Amino acid sequence: MLNLNFDPFPVLTTERLILRRFTFADAPKLFELRKDPVIMQYISRPLSKTLDDAIDLIKVINDLLKGNNGITWCITLKNEQEFVGSIGFWRIEKENYRAEIGYLLNPAYQGRGIMQEAIETIINYGFGPMSLHTIQANVSPDNLASIKLLQKNNFTQEAYFKENYFFNGVFEDTLVYTLLTKT
Ligand SMILES: CC(C)(COP(=O)(O)OP(=O)(O)OC[C@H]1O[C@@H](n2cnc3c(N)ncnc32)[C@H](O)[C@@H]1OP(=O)(O)O)[C@@H](O)C(=O)NCCC(=O)NCCS
Repeated sequence: MLNLNFDPFPVLTTERLILRRFTFADAPKLFELRKDPVIMQYISRPLSKTLDDAIDLIKVINDLLKGNNGITWCITLKNEQEFVGSIGFWRIEKENYRAEIGYLLNPAYQGRGIMQEAIETIINYGFGPMSLHTIQANVSPDNLASIKLLQKNNFTQEAYFKENYFFNGVFEDTLVYTLLTKT
């Protein structure tokens, strides 16, 4: 069984980024992304309607963290320190040493290799200090940017579930990609 401890919070740095803990000060920038139907088109979660929805999301992130049941990093540029995106592990199955990865980046910062830098770093954290055996990603078959990112990082497709996810009155398909730790 995985024994996780996210205290103290593992701040991670890359060439251009600092991946740090979320604070409530990040809520306005998070809200900008979570309320935008285009940015959220492949993330089948309810859109944030008010700033309070984003604050609630940060509360959920912090509660998961406190219980050692999930970890989400706020992605910031080294010279700016403001939220530009998020990346993390949730739906952690401790008994199976397995977690689901999720990520979101402000479109103004997309296409510059930022998520590539962030994902490499948290994959190393997941298989290193966290001792995961499998990282899973659930992705819409239409989300080409996310699929490209996963394939570039050696995730392989394990499943194509047809109409398995009911959201906003529609049964959506899901691709399941996984990456196993090197044995
Ligand atoms: C998916 C996402 C995080 C990618 O972030 P990004 O920083 O733009 O990605 P990168 O610049 O690091 O690119 C990584 C690879 O994906 C490719 N890629 C990025 N966006 C792409 C797009 N729109 N179409 C095709 N390929 C794309 C890049 O070309 C790169 O591969 P390469 O180096 O071989 O050229 C970003 O598009 C996003 O936040 N999307 C909205 C939220 C979302 O859908 N999250 C995932 C839910 S499963």
